[in-house]
Amino acid sequence: MGEWEALEQRCLQCQACALAQTRTHVVFGMGTPQAEVLFVGEAPGATEDEQGLPFVGKAGQLLDDMLAMIGLHRSRIYITNSIKCRPPNNRDPLNTEKDACAGYLQRQLQLMQPKIIVCLGRISAMEMIKPDFKITQEHGQFFEKNGTLYTALYHPAALLRDPSKKPETFVDLKRLRAKIQEVCSHTEMDF
Ligand code: URA
Repeated sequence: MGEWEALEQRCLQCQACALAQTRTHVVFGMGTPQAEVLFVGEAPGATEDEQGLPFVGKAGQLLDDMLAMIGLHRSRIYITNSIKCRPPNNRDPLNTEKDACAGYLQRQLQLMQPKIIVCLGRISAMEMIKPDFKITQEHGQFFEKNGTLYTALYHPAALLRDPSKKPETFVDLKRLRAKIQEVCSHTEMDF
């Protein structure tokens, strides 16, 4: 078994925090672990917990539409969350839960070594880019850290709540597409 599969197996059986008692499925992630572009959301919701896959509810359908706008498909990237199990009733994860889970995403990053990390929403951006990240001001900008490029988009659930943010997100997506063309070598896009 490769290191990625071993990590996934360990994560699927994780009992490191109390979310193990309330989850239906661990959501490790989906797509190709060899991808150059990694999307990171916050935590699984109800549909994700039922199916064991990230972004498969309403927000996930919008994420697929957003990817399609720049000729991308989720099979050509990797999608995961900072937290691998659903907090009950979608409450914010506790610090103890975040700490117990952090090693999985860290190891995913080490093994994947993506060229571009796309944070979905403010919470992910605050964790991955900087603690004082301002999503309304800094979405769509690129930040370089240790040779990896990071950017953040509005979370698709936020776009469903406030569709007036969609035009800005379309601009961000076009910038992301250009950046993928600039720095990635094997990420296929349809147009
Ligand atoms: N929202 C997230 O942040 N992640 C998911 O997987 C689904 C909804």
